[in-house]
Amino acid sequence: MLERHVTLRTGEKVHIRPLMVADAALYPNFLADVTREDLRLRFFVVMRELAPAIIDRLVHYDPAVAMAFIAIDEKDGRMLGVVRLHDDASGENGEFAILMRSWLKGHGLGWLMMKHMIAYAKEKGLRSVHGQVLCENTTMLQMCAELGFHSIDDPNEQGVKYVELPLAEVPAEVTI
Ligand SMILES: CC(C)(COP(=O)(O)OP(=O)(O)OC[C@H]1O[C@@H](n2cnc3c(N)ncnc32)[C@H](O)[C@@H]1OP(=O)(O)O)[C@@H](O)C(=O)NCCC(=O)NCCS
Repeated sequence: MLERHVTLRTGEKVHIRPLMVADAALYPNFLADVTREDLRLRFFVVMRELAPAIIDRLVHYDPAVAMAFIAIDEKDGRMLGVVRLHDDASGENGEFAILMRSWLKGHGLGWLMMKHMIAYAKEKGLRSVHGQVLCENTTMLQMCAELGFHSIDDPNEQGVKYVELPLAEVPAEVTI
């Protein structure tokens, strides 16, 4: 279950599929619509833009140990969001990160992409997925809580929550 077509509650038809190298071309238009604040919530540092070298690294991932799903607007082919999952060194758990086009926030796509990533991780046989979320990122923390993630203060970084979802707690048939 690598790709799927969904309709958002606001009507947009969206294709979710694995991120490809050629999708680097979609990033500039996507990032032009991502606020600096959303970039900070995703990368934890203030940045005006993503350097081409970073985009290049994001699209060149090793599918054996990482996966990234992109959401494409079926109407015009624009990139609407991306969720990533990188295995730990142990290969047993995965770390996720997610970013949506800022005007699209609240349309339900972040939730659907998280569910897609969780279903993929479970099918892959990972034990858990985890991530770091800034304490002020209440939307993400609320969404993680609703998805079943456990949340603690990150022992290594002040102002950051460590969220983890043991995949044994997720029903075998995860549907979005
Ligand atoms: C955090 C982020 C990914 C959320 O994406 P989003 O598309 O805005 O989120 P959604 O619209 O799917 O979900 C948010 C809301 O719907 C709820 N929700 C959505 N679909 C749902 C469903 N099917 N069932 C139940 N609840 C649902 C969520 O709990 C939340 O509630 P609210 O709108 O009442 O606050 C997005 O805001 C973003 O890109 N932020 C910047 C980057 C970032 O913070 N990344 C996280 C750190 S890695």
